[in-house]
Amino acid sequence: MSKTAPIPQIEGSRIADLTSNPLKDQQKYLAEIQRIEKKHFPSSEALDFNAELKKRNTNAILVLKDVDGSTEVAAYLVYLRMKRLTLLHKICVAQPYRQQGIAKEMITLLRSRLEREGCGSVQLWVDEDRTAARALYASCDFKQVDRCPDYYGPGRTGLRMVLRLE
Ligand SMILES: CC(C)(COP(=O)(O)OP(=O)(O)OC[C@H]1O[C@@H](n2cnc3c(N)ncnc32)[C@H](O)[C@@H]1OP(=O)(O)O)[C@@H](O)C(=O)NCCC(=O)NCCS
Repeated sequence: MSKTAPIPQIEGSRIADLTSNPLKDQQKYLAEIQRIEKKHFPSSEALDFNAELKKRNTNAILVLKDVDGSTEVAAYLVYLRMKRLTLLHKICVAQPYRQQGIAKEMITLLRSRLEREGCGSVQLWVDEDRTAARALYASCDFKQVDRCPDYYGPGRTGLRMVLRLE
């Protein structure tokens, strides 16, 4: 995706690939993402974005929002693209922007992109206790295919979910 598009329900917002922004803005957005990441995930699950996004087949979709003349990151989705399979690595919406359809919008965009490119499925792992994330994935047609006790550490079960693409 080289173009940006507004999200109608969020005034002053746009959705775009990280790399479609000027380099200096990319650095600023990455720093913001790292802050959001630290806030919402235990350190063992926090992605090292600088390392991760250097990989050729890793990509990030951002939702940006204009606030008082500057731009902030409202949400991000990171995925790893392989031939017939895509791994949805991470999705997060900053607290003030939740439950307004932003995460679903990002997954819908990813889905239509991957279908166009001929990718066969999207896979992810989610902590069984993350109820909001599970509701999101279910509403985007992901199906649970595996359940792995202690996947995220003692007592923390991981669910593997897959979205089959057309
Ligand atoms: C999970 C998360 C990304 C959802 O983002 P969001 O923008 O609030 O989700 P949306 O508004 O697009 O909602 C999508 C669907 O999930 C449901 N949903 C979202 N949050 C929910 C909640 N807290 N409780 C119940 N259902 C919820 C919505 O009702 C909606 O369902 P519908 O399409 O049937 O109406 C967000 O809560 C988040 O960032 N959580 C912390 C990080 C995380 O857990 N990431 C996933 C693991 S990597």
